[in-house]
Amino acid sequence: MKTRVIAKPDLKLAAKRGRTPTTFHRVNNSSNTEIINKLKNRKYFIKTYGCQANVRDEETMRGILESVGMISTDNVNESDLIIINTCAVRENAEDKVYGEVGNLKHLKAKKKDLVIAICGCMVEQPEILDRLINTFKEVNLYFGTHEIYNLASLVYETLTSGERIVSIESKAGEVVEDLPSCRNNKFKAFVNIMYGCDKFCTYCIVPYTRGKERSRRFEDVMKEVKELEAQGYQEVTFLGQNVNAYGKDLDEGYDFADLLVAAGHTNIPRIRFTTSHPWDFNGRMIEAIAKYPNIMKFIHLPVQSGSSEVLKRMNRRYTREDYLNLVKKMKDNIPGLTLSTDIIVGFPNETDEEFNDTLTLVDEVGYDAAFTFIYSPRRGTPAAKMEDPITYETKVKRFKELVSHLENSISKKSNEMIGKVYPVLVEGVSKTNKDMFSGYTENNKLVHFKADETLVGQIVNVKITESHTYSMLGELVK
Ligand code: 5AD
Ligand code: SF4
Repeated sequence: MKTRVIAKPDLKLAAKRGRTPTTFHRVNNSSNTEIINKLKNRKYFIKTYGCQANVRDEETMRGILESVGMISTDNVNESDLIIINTCAVRENAEDKVYGEVGNLKHLKAKKKDLVIAICGCMVEQPEILDRLINTFKEVNLYFGTHEIYNLASLVYETLTSGERIVSIESKAGEVVEDLPSCRNNKFKAFVNIMYGCDKFCTYCIVPYTRGKERSRRFEDVMKEVKELEAQGYQEVTFLGQNVNAYGKDLDEGYDFADLLVAAGHTNIPRIRFTTSHPWDFNGRMIEAIAKYPNIMKFIHLPVQSGSSEVLKRMNRRYTREDYLNLVKKMKDNIPGLTLSTDIIVGFPNETDEEFNDTLTLVDEVGYDAAFTFIYSPRRGTPAAKMEDPITYETKVKRFKELVSHLENSISKKSNEMIGKVYPVLVEGVSKTNKDMFSGYTENNKLVHFKADETLVGQIVNVKITESHTYSMLGELVK
């Protein structure tokens, strides 16, 4: 198969983008009759790995494919287009993709015009892309997060040319509006408010793969929010790698606090946002969260480490004290606040004392939930070049210690909820017990309880009867 390279990623270019202004494009490629005639009634299958940004990208890809008449299928064997939407944030996310793509090889032998596509953060890295191209001869389309808007035409090109197409640009500063989307959920929605990241934490690949920090315009975000409100959505989550930096790149006189206030004035019962960076979290944002009852008093505030020294090596731009002061300010101003976090264990050269600082910080903050990771070197990032004498065994030992520490404190907080009544948004039949339904409290605790189908998508009152580390049992209160 001949390979046509439209663009290949370049990490150095991605890192050197500087202060490129944000530009806006309005795109609708659903009216091209040639593309529609070729793609109509073909079946597509998408498998997504990674974060909510990828989940939201999948919804956009679905919207684009359906707008040209393609049909979704859950059965990979009957698909005409298979898209693997990848994640590169840690090595284990990558390994899964190599396995998954390997399993698809045999399908191509059966169906000659099958298109197998790989997109997402993995292909934005030159060396990984080359490895994929050399390993998987069956894959005939590679596209990046910046090319999603062009998906229908890329699939068309692949089919009509018979070539393998690679279209991945390390672009800076673009926001594409007006793309169709096909939401996965009828009552909970993600709304992108910004893309990319300019923080360049030394361990993280995201600023290279997702590009420059760029915000959507306030009116575009709110138009989407208003549409969701009119459709009866119960929960809207604002998405961005660093939502608190919203608006900074636009210089149009608004920031994330203004967006929170506007969302606070809607009738959407639950407004959430993720992810926050302590550096950009200001007092006006805290005030807005405190003031509006429909903004959930639940903040995901990644700390990454409790040691100021490690934070410095991570380029996190705050110290342990800065973080604890911010948490205090939040707790003082937002009654009933709960916090969750991300923590990396085993960053290069992390000493026992530095790790211990993380344990004491965890105790001091009292998180309600936490995502913990063992540091995974990402090629092209500064941390990957740091010397690291700490053995993997030590990292695993520390990881286990941290998890058991966190589980103790989370269990304590969950136990305090027993006997009390909380509003719960009913999601559907429980994934672990088909006789039960499940949903989330305002502070994001998963609760299982007896209910019926008519309550799905509604907010009901549930009395907590039992608590486990990662979920709770409850009874519906009439
Ligand atoms: N190794 C381990 N964890 C990482 N994260 C990001 N990059 C790495 C890495 N190289 C974690 C951070 C981030 C979360 C989404 O993933 O904790 O907040
Ligand atoms: Fe990665 Fe840091 Fe940006 Fe988060 S803030 S996406 S951890 S570089």
